[in-house]
Amino acid sequence: MDKYAVFGNPIKHSKSPLIHQLFAEQLGDTLTYEAILAPQNEFEKTLNAFFHAGGCGINVTLPFKEQAHELVDMLTERAKLAGAVNTIKRLEDGRLLGDNTDGAGLVADLTRHNVNLNGARVLLIGAGGASKGAIFPLLQSGVSQIHIANRTVEKAHAMAEYFSAYGQISASGFSDIPKGNFDIIINASSASVSNAVLPINACVFEQATCAYDMFYSKTGTPFLAQAKENNITIHALDGLGMLVGQAAEAYFLWRNRMPEVEPVLTQLIRGMQ
Ligand code: ATR
Repeated sequence: MDKYAVFGNPIKHSKSPLIHQLFAEQLGDTLTYEAILAPQNEFEKTLNAFFHAGGCGINVTLPFKEQAHELVDMLTERAKLAGAVNTIKRLEDGRLLGDNTDGAGLVADLTRHNVNLNGARVLLIGAGGASKGAIFPLLQSGVSQIHIANRTVEKAHAMAEYFSAYGQISASGFSDIPKGNFDIIINASSASVSNAVLPINACVFEQATCAYDMFYSKTGTPFLAQAKENNITIHALDGLGMLVGQAAEAYFLWRNRMPEVEPVLTQLIRGMQ
């Protein structure tokens, strides 16, 4: 039977095994998908053991995405630019192909919610791994410009410079974000994880049609609450759809068939209530 897994540390609360099991049921595929806790300093050893035992593909989550990027034999362009790998496929000749489906999952989720990306002006908050993975797929989807705002302003500038050949990208700290110029505001910082409110001026949200938090929580996120407080008509979306979206893209890479996201998302939300 085809074997897949997600590797991380911690991994106990991962939703990936359930998501992939639901995809497999939906498509009538027979496969196994397990959650594997890799010891912090034994990611490579654990990964090699899985593939030597016949594993077909894995997802990689925190804290191993950068290590996975270094370990694979080949990279897709989006994984190369993201500097991180969240999906590995064992090719027929045994080589390992690394991909990064996180940004594609974000774009797919925005598209599923009918958010117009073509020509859109995007404010991207955060300059860590999540932000880096989103920039190239967003530019490819047709957004016209991205402004990166980060607590540590130097990191925002470095990231804008890194992607400068691929599109129109600017950067700043939180206090000097250009006001009222954005269609879509995406929180790719980990501020919501610690329930922190971002020190962003209210007028940044005024013209925006969509606020997207890559984080999700049953009770909502501080960023989405802030967006709605400052713009009652804003379309506020959390990152659960992106999670299922990136998983669907991984499934497609492995098995060449694209599962439907919507029914799986519905089931996950039901399970969380
Ligand atoms: P990830 O892989 O989730 O992106 P990361 O690479 O550690 O994680 O990046 C975390 C991002 O969230 C960074 O942009 C960080 O800002 P700094 O570069 O200034 O550290 C941002 N971040 C984390 N906590 C934050 C908070 N409370 N307020 C604002 N930004 C925060």
